[in-house]
Amino acid sequence: MKKINMKEDHLQIYKRENSNVWQIKIKLPNKKALRISSRTKVKEDAKNIALHKYNFFSKERIILDNNSEKNFQYKKVHLIESKNLKKNEIECFLMESNKYIKFNKQKIKKLNLLKGRTVFNLFFEDSTRTRTSFEVAAKRLGADLINVALKDSSINKGETLFDTMTTINSMDPDVLIVRHPEEGISKKISTMVKACVINAGDGSHEHPTQALLDALTIKKKFGSFIKLKIAICGDILHSRVARSNIEILSTLGAKINIIGPKTLIPIDIQQSNIKIYYNMKAGLKNCDIVMMLRIQKERIVGKHFTNEKEYFKKYGLDYKKLGYAKKQALVMHPGPMNRGIEIDSKLADDVTRSLIQEQVSMGVAIRMACLEILINNKDKYGS
Ligand code: NCD
Repeated sequence: MKKINMKEDHLQIYKRENSNVWQIKIKLPNKKALRISSRTKVKEDAKNIALHKYNFFSKERIILDNNSEKNFQYKKVHLIESKNLKKNEIECFLMESNKYIKFNKQKIKKLNLLKGRTVFNLFFEDSTRTRTSFEVAAKRLGADLINVALKDSSINKGETLFDTMTTINSMDPDVLIVRHPEEGISKKISTMVKACVINAGDGSHEHPTQALLDALTIKKKFGSFIKLKIAICGDILHSRVARSNIEILSTLGAKINIIGPKTLIPIDIQQSNIKIYYNMKAGLKNCDIVMMLRIQKERIVGKHFTNEKEYFKKYGLDYKKLGYAKKQALVMHPGPMNRGIEIDSKLADDVTRSLIQEQVSMGVAIRMACLEILINNKDKYGS
């Protein structure tokens, strides 16, 4: 048998008498040896493949070895609201996402951290972005994810929410991701089940993981929140994204300008750390970031919103209005976008000004961190 040691006893390639193909043996400390075929007869190729595999498995080990129940600053088992999150708790989510930002750039994106754990996506409302983002996050961590089609579920056959949750609870899930058109549902569900609950949007109320991913995107670009002025523009009244962002970004120290037509700004929004504007020119002055919101047509009943063209003229973000903000100001939008209504299509796609694609990518990292932290806490403190 031919044998070549590459990293002392930790990495080897070898070829058996009866085979032309090189085999790889990886032996990491305190782990069983792993044997894989390189599927090549060429020695130099086999060496490269072996190194690639070794790097992958040893990186995975770093994350996995740290996994003996951690002491995170965030100690709860649910993530329902941004309102009561403390600064150190928000920073905990942002910090833990860092390793996943790096990990998600690797060629092979699969960990065993949540192997054998069960995550349910319970979406009572349409969603592509958020549902898929949680699915990718859970699967990259090795968990089993089950998408429950609730729009066609027994709940429409008259089953109560309580019965549906009791049924799901009996399947012993670890995490439930809940989106529902009604405010406060995730909180209610968290009292009915043993699993961790993540609020993925409850009516116009809150959407904490969206605000966390927005904060992560901003942190990656600007480093700190202290001197930042952020404009949140559009349909504030119906936006759970706006509500969660106002809480999280102001707790992190940013100044916030709210901009929109009077009819789409809630009256209870007056807070000491935010300013309200009804016109873009005044509101965008000196802003570093312009966060646009979708006009929530499905939640607007007639009177607040009449003419899309008129709306775009006054509140739609285009290059001209972006010019009212700071020279290098950047644009965000949680998606899905109404192009030509709240945002100019070309600007939305302009990667030199728009962080929209970056937001999606940060979404996966932040959700991986959320799943890791909540499941860790459930193991450590119980639910
Ligand atoms: C947001 C939502 O569903 O609240 N989108 C999202 O989570 N990606 C914003 C919206 O629907 O406008």
